[in-house]
Amino acid sequence: SRRQVVFSGIQPTGVPHLGNYLGALRQWVKLQDEAAPESTLLYSVVDLHAITVAQDPARLRQWRKEMFASLIAVGLDPKRSIIFCQSAVPAHSELMWILSCTASIGYLSRMTQWKSKLALPDNVSPLDESSKAKLRLGLFSYPVLQAADVLVHRATHVPVGEDQSQHLEFARNCANAFNHTSGKILVPPETILSPAKRVMSLTQPQLKMSKSHKNPKSRILISDSRDEITKKIKSALTDSISSITYDPQQRPGVSNLIEILYHLDAAEVRSCHELAHDYKDLSMRAFKEKVADSIDERLSSIRDKYESVMHDANTHWLSDMNEEGSRRARASADATMALVREAVGL
Ligand code: ADP
Ligand code: NA
Repeated sequence: SRRQVVFSGIQPTGVPHLGNYLGALRQWVKLQDEAAPESTLLYSVVDLHAITVAQDPARLRQWRKEMFASLIAVGLDPKRSIIFCQSAVPAHSELMWILSCTASIGYLSRMTQWKSKLALPDNVSPLDESSKAKLRLGLFSYPVLQAADVLVHRATHVPVGEDQSQHLEFARNCANAFNHTSGKILVPPETILSPAKRVMSLTQPQLKMSKSHKNPKSRILISDSRDEITKKIKSALTDSISSITYDPQQRPGVSNLIEILYHLDAAEVRSCHELAHDYKDLSMRAFKEKVADSIDERLSSIRDKYESVMHDANTHWLSDMNEEGSRRARASADATMALVREAVGL
């Protein structure tokens, strides 16, 4: 059957950047637009994940609102996709606990995200004194909650970035371990990797574009004005070689801009080398104007939609949408939990 259950989540971190859009959200919309009518799509603003690091409560609420508005702005449709807040569906946390009771600490400690969030080297163990002092249980067991997010809806397909494929492997492992003792209840999901794996920072093109970098000029937000886009692209770190060529090793800055152009073209038909060839005689300045124009062309309707959602005269849009989305998500999760509780003996 063509019935798919698609699940993905994004943290409430305010307005997404171009890397989030090209690497994740655009894929979510594409899956929605191409889904068979019998498929189910669930997209969650994962606020329980956000609190694994310190948050300011008022800012977290504002960021959640901005993320919901952004999901609508990029083209998700609450009629076709179930858009909901993770904390409104308690079954995510309940299944996490049940999976925690069989998850291996050894397996979890080999995952790298808690290390990078604490800025620890890759070879440290969670049992090192330096790690134990800094590491909170929630940050360490974050992948178990992620596994629960996906498994509680019996998702068949999960679109994620490259950085998350390790966690999805862990989710499959949790599903198989549960099924081994309790019968075929959970579904090991398939990963859907986005073609835009790593959009790089504009100011440090050896790093990926991320909201965790201090310099706001390192990233373009999907709500940026044409003027802001132009300024950020103008100040992007490139080099003084005259001629536009695609060479990610030797010329990471200009190559990142070429890759952005490549991914902005939804069909992704002309290769980066072909694109570079089209622009080879342009000055860096003229090339950057072309890149800024293309980004603006793609983001202008998203930005307009974002503004209109944020300033919607119906000030209840967020709670209305969240209520409807979480009602449908609870129904999906509760159906799984009835089987899980039965199998475990709860
Ligand atoms: P950030 O790295 O800014 O903290 P998240 O980790 O919240 O972003 O990522 C949300 C989604 O966006 C994930 O699916 C992730 O793979 C994707 N993503 C984040 N940054 C990039 C990037 N620079 N290029 C491509 N995809 C990205
Ligand atoms: Na990240």
